[in-house]
This record gives sequence, structure tokens and C-alpha cells, in this order.
Amino acid sequence: IFTKPINSKDFLQCMASKFSTANVYTKESTLYSSLLLKSQKNPRWLNSTLAFKPLYIVTPSQEPEIGVTVLCSREHGLQVRVRSGGHDYEGLSYLSRAHFVLIDLVHLREIRINMEDQTLWVQSGATLGELYYNIAQRSSTYGFPAGVCPTVGVGGHISGGGLGVLTRKYGLVADHVMDARLVDVNGRVLDRKLMGEELFWAVRGGGGASFGVITAWKIKMVPVPLTVTVFTVHKTLEQGANKLVDRWQQIADKLPDDLFIRIIVQNVGGGSYGVKKTVQASFNSMFLGNVQSLISVMELIFPEMEVGAKDCKEVSWIESILYFAGHPSGTSREVLLDRDHQLYKSYFKAKSDFVNQIIPETALQQAWERQLQVDEAYMVMEPLGGMMNHIPETQLAFPHRGGNLYNIQYIVKWKVNEAEEARRHIHWVRMLHAFMSPYVSKSPRTAYFNYRDLDLGINGNNGTTSYLEARVWGTKYFKNNFERLAKAKRRIDPSNFFRDEQSIPPFG
Ligand code: FDA
Repeated sequence: IFTKPINSKDFLQCMASKFSTANVYTKESTLYSSLLLKSQKNPRWLNSTLAFKPLYIVTPSQEPEIGVTVLCSREHGLQVRVRSGGHDYEGLSYLSRAHFVLIDLVHLREIRINMEDQTLWVQSGATLGELYYNIAQRSSTYGFPAGVCPTVGVGGHISGGGLGVLTRKYGLVADHVMDARLVDVNGRVLDRKLMGEELFWAVRGGGGASFGVITAWKIKMVPVPLTVTVFTVHKTLEQGANKLVDRWQQIADKLPDDLFIRIIVQNVGGGSYGVKKTVQASFNSMFLGNVQSLISVMELIFPEMEVGAKDCKEVSWIESILYFAGHPSGTSREVLLDRDHQLYKSYFKAKSDFVNQIIPETALQQAWERQLQVDEAYMVMEPLGGMMNHIPETQLAFPHRGGNLYNIQYIVKWKVNEAEEARRHIHWVRMLHAFMSPYVSKSPRTAYFNYRDLDLGINGNNGTTSYLEARVWGTKYFKNNFERLAKAKRRIDPSNFFRDEQSIPPFG
């Protein structure tokens, strides 16, 4: 199917004969550029000469249109890329090294909530913000555990796992998926029953892009209290951040499941005001209860932080979503419906680790001193433990469960889209990652698939990568689940039509 020369008219004729071209945009269409640019979150990819831009962008409004797009793409030697929220760290949802059709699910955003059994169906093109908002409009006591950034798409996020503030209490969002709908390589729409349990297992944590186009998810909501408490305590190195982070490492995964405390380490000061440039650790927390109970817990378990009522704020669960998303107090919840909020767009490169033993204080201190070499860098440390310890590694394709204390994300950002700027910052974050290697998980050194990192390894251009080659990066994301994922892939897509730089090759 990949041998036919590409004739750009053939694809359009195919779409016209089988469905319609009403939602197909060519490079000549006036809307092409704005559609391509709109939902991508890492604009560093857009000047990339290493990749092609899509020959066509299709914005389907119903499932059969996706099936036809897949069939016409196959017929005419084109690959497809699927985009839901466009947050892929390496731009894989909208760029490719091969000629391709971009299926952008921006019109598939329906959310149907059933409060009787506390379930919902959400189409993949919806954002987390849209979903959070819609749930809160229906109930103050139900939510779901997922990521903190409201513009993240449901499609990519859930298929990669989905970590967030409620993870210690309830696990991943993927742990609460009850059903899914997927368009396969033959254009068929499969639900859980039709796709079978192996494929249903694979798309919960193994990423969707290797298996088909996931159009919708059925999720069981989880209870949240009417009032939750949030706080953020900032400490610079000079104020003893190091000692507190060290203490946090000892307890963060063992805290009561209702308590989530993550750490964001970033540079502060410098600039023209004569304030000394230093590193600050922000302890950013949510507790599923009121202030009084939180303070009692903190006094007992983490007195060194000296959290008092003045640091805390009682809010509703939906207000806590706005808080973690970085919106100032009083921001209307309607901001969650803004899919293109500029707050979350930047030139960046990120890498990730899982940590299963305490990192020596001196090593962390040295990592933060490195941070001062660049203007904008973050180390985000998110606690695990709690419910994550009770779910076996093989339950879903996402394997990073018990035994991990926390995960770290290293993020570097820059302001100007110039090759030299990108090169310098990417080199810096790679060096930091290399520096951390003695202190984090080993054999394999693991990483979170949703924090995509092409440095871990990439497939060959034409889908020629063998299972053994892909295993090098695959086991970092999926540990021993990688083999099972490759077998599920063989069953659903043996010709490896759905492929990209880090898709799972068929095996077995
Ligand atoms: P995008 O549309 O770019 O897709 C990502 C990948 O999934 C691509 O390979 C794409 O082809 C595939 N895909 C998307 N939709 C699909 C579908 N319907 N069917 C099949 N394949 C599909 N993560 C986390 O766990 N917790 C967090 O708090 C955050 N926070 C966060 C903040 C910011 C600013 C960013 C940029 C990212 C995060 N993430 C995160 C990471 C996020 O979960 C990850 O990038 C997701 O893959 C994004 O999903 P989108 O649909 O937005 O991405």
C-alpha cells in the first residue's frame, strides 16, 4: 500500500467519492495555516525543516468521516497523524517525516454526562478544561483524576495515562476508563466489545497513535468533597529549600491519599531590579478536606513546612482546577473553555524520570545550581504512592506504579524561535538529564510516555524499525508491557499503517 506515487488529487477524489471534501483543507485553503497553528502548543516545531507539514488537514465531524479518511490515506500512500489537543511535546500529532494527512478532532468535542451512574462519554477532541467545566456545571461532588493543564486534549492525554492532582487518591484518568471507541486501519468503528480486551488494555497508557483513531472515552467519575484546600509555599535556597525538599522526598509518597504536594523548582530574581538570582522551590498542594484538617495533618507529618491557615485557601474542586492551572483567584471558570489560552504555549524541551530512592541533598543542590545557567527552567516533582501502589504494573499499559516515590520533569523554555537558541537550551536539558542518571530509576531508566522525548529513540522513516530496535526506547516508557503492546499492535494493525517516530511496531 505504500508503493503508489503520491498524487495529491487522488486523495481528494477518494474523499469526494466516499464521503465529502467539506472538511478537507489543502495547503491552498485560506484556513489551512490557522488550523495547523491553532492547537499546537510547542511552536518550535513550526519552522522545522526536518518534517513535512500535512498535505491535507481533515476536521471530521463524525466517525464515518474518519474511517473514510483512513481508507483514502491508505489507498493513496499517505500516512495519518491524529491531533486532539496538540500538546505533544515533540509535535508528533501535527508533523511527520513522511507525506501525511492530519486528522484534527477539533469538531469532535461532545460531552455526555450521566449523573445517575456517575459516568460520562467524552469525545477525544475535547480538552480537559472543557471536561472539568462540564462536570462542575452538573455536580459539585464529582470530578475525575487527570492533568493540570486545561488545554490538554482528552485524546492524547488519556491514551498516555494521565497524571494529576488526584493521582495519589484515585490513580490515572486511564484507570477510570470503562469503554472507548476507535476507528481502526480498515475504517471500522470498534467499541470495547468489538476491539477486545487486549486492544482496550493497550490504548489505556500505550498511546493511541499506534493503534487507530480513538474518537471517544467512557469514564467513571470519582467523588470529590464540596470543599478542598489548596496552598503554595515558596522557599528559596537561602530560605532552606534544600532541607524541605529532602524531607518531602522521605514522605511525599507516604502522605495520606487525600494529600498531594508537588514541588516546582524554578529560577527567580535576577534582571534589572538588583534582586539576587536564585532558585525557588514552590510546594504546591491540594488536600481533599478543610483547612483545619489539613493543618492537623501537616503539623503531624510535615511540621518543618510550617503551613498555617494564612497559607491555605478553601475552594471548590473546580476552583482548585483553576488554581493549579495558574489562574489568579476570582478568575471565572469559563476560562477553562478557552482552548487556545496563551498561558500554555511556549518553545520548550522536556525530559522525565521516575525516582525510586531518595536523591542525596547535595545532588539536588547541584542540579539547581545548573538551573541558574539558563533563564527559564523548571524541575517539577510529582508525588506517587497512594492508590498508585495498589495497582499492578500490568493492569494497564502505563507501568509506573508501586516502588516509585515520585516523578521529575525537567523543562527548559526559551523566547525566540532561533536554531541556536533551541540548540543551546536542548543541550542544557540533556546535560541536566545526564547529570541526574545515577540518582533515578535504572535498567531501564524509565520515562512517562505523555512527556514525550525523542532523545530516547526513534523509529526509521518507513516503519522499518524492528521490535528489538524499538525495545530500546519502548521499555523506558512501558517496561515489560512493551512486548504485550507490540503483540496488540500486530493484531489490530499488522501492516503498521498507524506509525510515527515513536509508535509501537507489530511483533509476535
Ligand atoms: P496531541 O493532540 O498532540 O496528541 C498527542 C499524541 O497522542 C500524538 O501522538 C497523537 O497522534 C496522539 N493522539 C491524540 N489524539 C488521539 C486520538 N484521538 N486517537 C489516537 N491517537 C491520538 N500530562 C499529564 O499526565 N499530566 C499533566 O498535568 C500534564 N500537563 C501538561 C501541560 C502542558 C502545558 C503540556 C504541553 C502537556 C501536559 N501533559 C500532561 C502532557 C500531555 O498529557 C500529553 O502531551 C498528551 O499526549 C497531550 O494530549 P493532546 O491530545 O493534547 O496532544
